[in-house]
Amino acid sequence: MPTARRPLVAGNWKMNGLKSSADEIDRLVTAAGGLKRLDLMVCPPATLVADFAERARASKLLIGGQDCHPEPAGAFTGDIAAEMLADAGASAVIVGHSERRTYHGEDDATVRRKALAAWRARLTAIVCVGETEADREAGRTLDVVGRQLAGSLPDGATAANLVVAYEPVWAIGTGRTPTPADVIEVHGFIRNRLIGRFGPAGEGMRVLYGGSVKPGNARELLTLANVDGALVGGASLKADEFLGIAAAYA
Ligand code: PGA
Repeated sequence: MPTARRPLVAGNWKMNGLKSSADEIDRLVTAAGGLKRLDLMVCPPATLVADFAERARASKLLIGGQDCHPEPAGAFTGDIAAEMLADAGASAVIVGHSERRTYHGEDDATVRRKALAAWRARLTAIVCVGETEADREAGRTLDVVGRQLAGSLPDGATAANLVVAYEPVWAIGTGRTPTPADVIEVHGFIRNRLIGRFGPAGEGMRVLYGGSVKPGNARELLTLANVDGALVGGASLKADEFLGIAAAYA
């Protein structure tokens, strides 16, 4: 039975972008109207969420955050609540990106609390999982991803409030990607875990691939079984390149 999952191509700008980057957003706003078969999203740094959301308001371009704190408010200097992202016009937030897990020591329990915070603020949680190179070489990929899913995904996930992003840590920003067979294996495994835990809703949840997605490899990677879009870092910073990736679904 064909599934009705609508692809999502999301750009993670990481710590890049200034007010002058709005030109790229304006170009995506214009292009988004013509993209009938997929959702397009940009997750800029927090300083740009409100401005970009305003520019994208009447369009199909979605704006998301890159991280949120578990709590709705309080004495957490430098942090941003999911409610603040929603207030600024975001409709989603990435949680558990490997750079947060590595540089900020976030464990699965923390990521789970952040996903719950996203839902509390009515944001879609884009929960990232993925193995390190050492994990893959040791044959532990599915163990690691399975553990991250079990620990990071809260109960109550639906196809509307959850997106999973599979991002092998060793593929992020390196120009290296898994083989199609490896992507199919991990995405199939994630799909089975989602269905096993959430029932039929798991069939509708989008599972994105992330890690060195470029216009040149997008079609090959993004049309594989159980790949429902991409989470794109470096290649999302320029509208042309990002749209070249979205063209995989044209
Ligand atoms: P990359 O990053 O596309 O630059 O490899 C992906 C990500 O970290 O989401």
